[in-house]
Order: sequence, then structure tokens, then C-alpha cells
Amino acid sequence: MKKAVITGGAGFIGLYIARTFVEAGWGAIALDNLQPQVHLDPRADVAAFPGQLVEGDVTDPTVWSSLTAVDRYRPPCGRDGRRPVHV
Ligand SMILES: NC(=O)c1ccc[n+]([C@@H]2O[C@H](COP(=O)([O-])OP(=O)(O)OC[C@H]3O[C@@H](n4cnc5c(N)ncnc54)[C@H](O)[C@@H]3O)[C@@H](O)[C@H]2O)c1
Repeated sequence: MKKAVITGGAGFIGLYIARTFVEAGWGAIALDNLQPQVHLDPRADVAAFPGQLVEGDVTDPTVWSSLTAVDRYRPPCGRDGRRPVHV
């Protein structure tokens, strides 16, 4: 199954993107730091997410490394900026 990594995926827009992917037969992984001002009930938001939710900050390189460990994630573009979007 193809999987999409959605940064900020637990947020308003990200959740709709995730649902769209899942309806299309993809898996969805949210990378989200669950900001308290957005997520008043983070446990409920994690439970509502239609896929895997990895808690972390997108600016933290170690989070991306852990994503690589749980899945074959490839970033949207490589250093040359030409790698295709694919996970
Ligand atoms: N009911 C409604 O109509 C409704 C509700 C909420 C928002 N909105 C609108 O939607 C728009 C905002 O939606 P959105 O989805 O962009 O914002 P959002 O705040 O809902 O989601 C952003 C997500 O990104 C995460 N995030 C932020 N910084 C991060 C970081 N450094 N690393 C990882 N995750 C990080 C947050 O925790 C959050 O889950 C606004 O225009 C707002 O007015 C509408």
C-alpha cells in the first residue's frame, strides 16, 4: 500500500487530506507536534486520525529519521530537488 506522509496532518486541513488519501486506498501518516493551542484534546485527535500519527516537529531531523525506520519514507525532493514525491 502506498502511504502519504502529511505534515501537520492532525490539523484541520491535514485531516481532510488524510481522509482523502485513505478513501483513495492509501495509508496516511501524520507528522504533527500536536500544538496545544490547536489540539485541546490531543488524545481524541490522535484517535480520530485515520492512520498513523507520529508526534514530532517537522524541523527536527531525528523525527524524519524515525519515520524512515518505520516506513520506507523518501522526502519529496532530494538535495538535487528532483526526487519525485513518493512514500
Ligand atoms: N471549523 C472550521 O471551519 C475551521 C477549523 C479550524 C481551522 N480552520 C481554518 O483552517 C485554516 C488552518 O488550517 P491548518 O490545517 O493549516 O491549521 P491547523 O492549526 O488546524 O493545523 C496545523 C497542524 O500543524 C501542526 N503543526 C504546527 N507546527 C508544526 C510543526 N513545526 N511540526 C509539526 N506539526 C506542526 C499543528 O499541531 C496542527 O495539527 C485556517 O484558515 C483556519 O481558519 C477552519
